[in-house]
Amino acid sequence: MGRFGLLLITFLTVWYCETSVSLAVSVAKPSASQAKYLDYEIGASIHFNMQTFARTMRPGHVVSPDTFNPTKLSTDEWLKAASSFGAKYAILTLDHFSGFLLWPTETNYNYSVKNSQWKNKTGDVAWEFMQSCEKYGLKHAFYYSVHENWYMDIGNYRSPTPEAQAIYNKLVEQQMRELFDPKSKYANPFLIWFDAGIIPGVSPNIGPILRTVGNSTICMQCPSFAGNQGVRWVGDEQAVAPLPLWYSVKAGECGKDNIGRSCLLVYIWVPLGEQFCPPFCDTVIREHYWFWKPNTTDRVKNVSTLVREYLTSVGRGCHLILNLDPDPNGLVEDEDIQAYSAFGKAIQLLYEDEVITLQDQVLKLGKEMAISSEKPFSKVNGSLVIMEDVAQFGQLVAEYQVRFKSSQGWIEKPLKGSTIGQKAIIPFPKVSGGVIFAVGITITKLVTTDSSIMLREVSIYDWSRAAKNGYV
Ligand SMILES: *[C@@H]1O[C@H](CO)[C@@H](O)[C@H](O)[C@H]1NC(C)=O
Ligand SMILES: *[C@@H]1O[C@H](CO)[C@@H](O)[C@H](O)[C@H]1NC(C)=O
Ligand SMILES: *[C@@H]1O[C@H](CO)[C@@H](O)[C@H](O)[C@H]1NC(C)=O
Ligand SMILES: *[C@@H]1O[C@H](CO)[C@@H](O)[C@H](O)[C@H]1NC(C)=O
Ligand SMILES: *[C@@H]1O[C@H](CO)[C@@H](O)[C@H](O)[C@H]1NC(C)=O
Ligand SMILES: *[C@@H]1O[C@H](CO)[C@@H](O)[C@H](O)[C@H]1NC(C)=O
Repeated sequence: MGRFGLLLITFLTVWYCETSVSLAVSVAKPSASQAKYLDYEIGASIHFNMQTFARTMRPGHVVSPDTFNPTKLSTDEWLKAASSFGAKYAILTLDHFSGFLLWPTETNYNYSVKNSQWKNKTGDVAWEFMQSCEKYGLKHAFYYSVHENWYMDIGNYRSPTPEAQAIYNKLVEQQMRELFDPKSKYANPFLIWFDAGIIPGVSPNIGPILRTVGNSTICMQCPSFAGNQGVRWVGDEQAVAPLPLWYSVKAGECGKDNIGRSCLLVYIWVPLGEQFCPPFCDTVIREHYWFWKPNTTDRVKNVSTLVREYLTSVGRGCHLILNLDPDPNGLVEDEDIQAYSAFGKAIQLLYEDEVITLQDQVLKLGKEMAISSEKPFSKVNGSLVIMEDVAQFGQLVAEYQVRFKSSQGWIEKPLKGSTIGQKAIIPFPKVSGGVIFAVGITITKLVTTDSSIMLREVSIYDWSRAAKNGYV
């Protein structure tokens, strides 16, 4: 309980209409890993591979494996930085377009750390990364691309000849078994990201392998075999989730994007879709580079930009993935380290000054739940946070309204919201006098025909300190 405490909440009205919520229509529910993914809220991606050393590398210009030589590599530093902004897992680019692999594969493949002068051919970035993940309490996750492999002459998923494609496909399938085998030291990643997806019938047949040995691993951009472990991209790299933000898709479309533009858009992310498929919002720390580039420290985002991105992603029920771009030494530059840690502190501050938290609130459709107090909730800024119980019921809210009461009474025009999902963070509006004494929440539309809903949490936070620090 924050410094305001419960005592100040002199009047609290909640309509306890029903003790249980029964569903009239079937709503897609998350698997255990998807529920975990929603609760994690923040992950990290780490772009570190041959492009860190050879930015101009491209098809037909494959550099020697000796080019990879991060003499000061510290995966501890990476994971410490990722944990400083609250990431619960980190995704390492095991393979990213060049074809260079960050683990010493035992398959018949000669473009990996095993072929590099780095640590005299005995290095293993993936394993060092995993040990650091364990040390800092993050789950390990991988990125692997079948979209491009310049070493194997794969461009836009395809090899110049069917023979070469067959060799490539077989190799990748062996590498997947090598990584995911229960006895492998790399086994059981929390998530694997096949950036730009996999083309069934052309690309390696990864699905059957993953859905047996890696059956609880979240699969990013795997429409044809996501099963109940898929997630989807929101469609921008700026961490802005469009609203409404639905967590389900039509069967077999988890990992596909909406098709077309504006009014011609074909929506495949829908309320009451058969398959649960929550979104992710990814973005860079340096605008707009995924891999490290020299002399770009002036592109490191400031903390107010990062907090704004937090509010347009996590604050809209999306899952935020923030990138790290270690340099050719294998280190994260100081400017980035400072930005990550300042961002982490800012996020903490958004939740530190708690005014009230109510759990498992049952709200009747169309009836307002009001929380009010004699004294203002905060001096300057504050926020309301609403969470649905997605793990138990799936995503139910389609529309809601919030009203605020200032010293002049209730502000007449309610703020209209659409989906909530995991979390909606609603900053207090600017009002004359600057203070809020009450909030009223009304759920106005559900995707089901139910007449009530149980919300997982409704909280109010004082953001005065966050505002004073310039975070909001
Ligand atoms: C990899 O290198 C080894 C040892 O030089 C060689 O025997 C093998 O044929 C090479 N594999 C490929 C696919 O080139
Ligand atoms: C690298 O490893 C090879 C083979 O084990 C060994 O002969 C060589 O001395 C090593 N070089 C260094 C610099 O450690
Ligand atoms: C997942 O894989 C494990 C081990 O391979 C197996 O025991 C389990 O039944 C599988 N679960 C599902 C849901 O397929
Ligand atoms: C980076 O900038 C410094 C001076 O600010 C310059 O000396 C150096 O050559 C630049 N490096 C690259 C790779 O452009
Ligand atoms: C943060 O960065 C944004 C975008 O570059 C800029 O518009 C804004 O003024 C910066 N804010 C602060 C406090 O420096
Ligand atoms: C915080 O309060 C200040 C002063 O009233 C205001 O300028 C600012 O927009 C508020 N920030 C948010 C996020 O509401």
